[in-house]
Amino acid sequence: MDDKLLESWNSIVEELKQDNTRLEACKDIFLFVLKCFCASLEKSQNFDEILKCFEIAIEFYGQNSDILIELGTFFAKFNRDVEAKEIFMQAFENDKRNLRAYQCLENLKSKIPRWHFRMLNDDARNDSFRKAINYWIENEGKSQVLDIGTGSGLLSLYASKCGKVEKITAVESDSTMCSIATKVFSDNDLQSKNKIELINKNSTELEIKDFQKKFDLVVSEILDCGVFGEGILDTFLHAKENLLHKEGKIVPHKVRIYVSGYNSKYLCSNNILLNDTFNEYIFLDNYRLIGEKNEPYDAEYVDKIKDFRIITNTLMVLEVNFNSIKSMNQHFDGIIMKNFQLTSNSNDFLDGFVVWFDLLLNEKDPLNYISTKPSAESCWNQAIFKLRERVLLQRYQILKLTISCRNGILKIDHEIDEHLDTKYFEVNSLILKFLNDEEYLENLEYAANEYKTEITNVLDLSPFPYIGFLFLKESRIKGHLWCSRIHENLLKILASKNCIDEEKFVFIDESDLTEISDAAVTFELIILNPFNELGDLNSEVCCNYQIYQKFLTNENCLLIPYKISLFGKLINSDWLSSSCKVTSEEMKRLKIDKYMNEYSTQIFLDIYPDLNYECLTDDFKINAIAFDDQYHEKNVQPFMRNINLPCNAILLFFKIQFTMRTNREFPLIRKTFSCFSKFAHVFSKDILINNTHAKINFKQNYGVIKLDCE
Ligand SMILES: C[S@@+](CC[C@H](N)C(=O)[O-])C[C@H]1O[C@@H](n2cnc3c(N)ncnc32)[C@H](O)[C@@H]1O
Repeated sequence: MDDKLLESWNSIVEELKQDNTRLEACKDIFLFVLKCFCASLEKSQNFDEILKCFEIAIEFYGQNSDILIELGTFFAKFNRDVEAKEIFMQAFENDKRNLRAYQCLENLKSKIPRWHFRMLNDDARNDSFRKAINYWIENEGKSQVLDIGTGSGLLSLYASKCGKVEKITAVESDSTMCSIATKVFSDNDLQSKNKIELINKNSTELEIKDFQKKFDLVVSEILDCGVFGEGILDTFLHAKENLLHKEGKIVPHKVRIYVSGYNSKYLCSNNILLNDTFNEYIFLDNYRLIGEKNEPYDAEYVDKIKDFRIITNTLMVLEVNFNSIKSMNQHFDGIIMKNFQLTSNSNDFLDGFVVWFDLLLNEKDPLNYISTKPSAESCWNQAIFKLRERVLLQRYQILKLTISCRNGILKIDHEIDEHLDTKYFEVNSLILKFLNDEEYLENLEYAANEYKTEITNVLDLSPFPYIGFLFLKESRIKGHLWCSRIHENLLKILASKNCIDEEKFVFIDESDLTEISDAAVTFELIILNPFNELGDLNSEVCCNYQIYQKFLTNENCLLIPYKISLFGKLINSDWLSSSCKVTSEEMKRLKIDKYMNEYSTQIFLDIYPDLNYECLTDDFKINAIAFDDQYHEKNVQPFMRNINLPCNAILLFFKIQFTMRTNREFPLIRKTFSCFSKFAHVFSKDILINNTHAKINFKQNYGVIKLDCE
């Protein structure tokens, strides 16, 4: 624990105890000391002491929203998410204008992956599992059931409806999901009948000595789009070797994996540099920028991507039997490496490979299977293995590939994009998306060029300091280009290839403005990025805007953007709605919707540009974004073009005015490729609007936006 912080904490607490008339005046400083002191306690994992500090804080200030937000944040940091959620809810309830509380609540809820909602709304998936479970219990007398990864408890509920079931053990590794399953089981009266036991553990930690009997049926759905990503082989091998009776069965029974080659410029846009203008201006030599590979494959709903096309034949390449230890072991260890060939069916660019699977639920019922192929509209998306370059294929060209599941992760090997003389430099996908948005860059450059007089310093905090770099290359910056430290390695390489002195860069931590304040530097040009990766407003940049203004040399200097306006349209989209909340009738009957929907969120980011929906209004302007941390509110009444369908979301995008002089508002979402995504606020209930105009309520506070509709 930091002694100085302890001293500051003790002294402010003492001061306020002795003179409580100073409470209001000292509130900000008290909160600051509380936060710093608790952060130091957090380092030594001293949660009990943190709680004691907050008890004192609440004694002084009551259930103040800002204090509750800090308290909730500590609960979340210590993985006490269920309590954190209650605290954030209380903070928002106590002060509905405090949208930071709303943001914390939304963030916390989205710790439960959103696919849980789509999955529970997938009636075909649910039905297949229900039928297979029913068959093995009722027809084959399997009565001791282990549900691995019970989630909200659905498969256990299916088992519980079977007359011949004796005991169900549900195991779930995630504590929040476990808390939901507890409520679902209790509301379905299962726990009181002693029929079910719920264990908050990973199934691989279970030992059979803790149970009276071995299980004779394992039911489990732990498949990601690349089949093995959630550790299914490891989990099932452990279950089969340790927990399951030798006559026991696993549902699902088998998986068959399919592969095709695809073409999609849209999917390349965050992985490959496609912008020819960049290559004209900035010399890369034998370097090529490619998207960082944090995951072995990406997950995409390819049927939501208009330009996605399959351009080879499709092959079934792997089959794994979950009821065979041998089959699972051979795949897990990567012993099975299947060589296969795909043939191109057009003269086109190959951009990568798409994988999907068929899941066969029951060996006795071959017709009971789930397909995750693109047109099947299942809750699963497809696994995308991207190439590092677009490779031009000739029709009938043969591609040699190998597929395996090394260390439990699906892998496709090939030499299609190998170039020995090319050096690949991995960058964050947002940088590539930004550099590929030629229209935005053109407008940004045009705006920055408005500053005609001599430039000493530039601060460029765009996703990549492209404009700043161009200005350096054109020797227009006499002093330095200040930019984020995350670009240091790449900028040093680019500097050496483009004859720019490394000394011209100053790298900073962009979230810490004290580095700039301490240097007492001023800028003639500042470029900010007020949006985050997924399309939403970056609240921190928004709140700090006025501080950035103070770093300008004089009033003729440019701070870009000058203005941002929020636009939207009311829509009807079942897809969006079912991605954010449980809507299935069956889930309502099983009372799963009630507890899952406590975690449904309003904000849906990064929407596919070609998502289908019904428009209920035209695009309308909602409000200009205020660059401060104050509370703002406005009502807007758009004309309803369609009153026959319920409204379930407002689809949103921004327009940006780069400088004061360019009074054109440039839309961030365009028909051609754009770096920024649409996003939506999905309403908790479908709203039928019978009037000619809807009522939209817009709120902004701390750079956070909240929208409601009547
Ligand atoms: C895809 S969900 C399925 C939920 C539910 N069974 C259903 O079908 O609706 C998988 C769940 O399994 C959990 N999980 C994955 N592997 C697990 C394991 N080995 N042991 C316990 N839980 C696991 C995850 O946390 C997640 O909640």
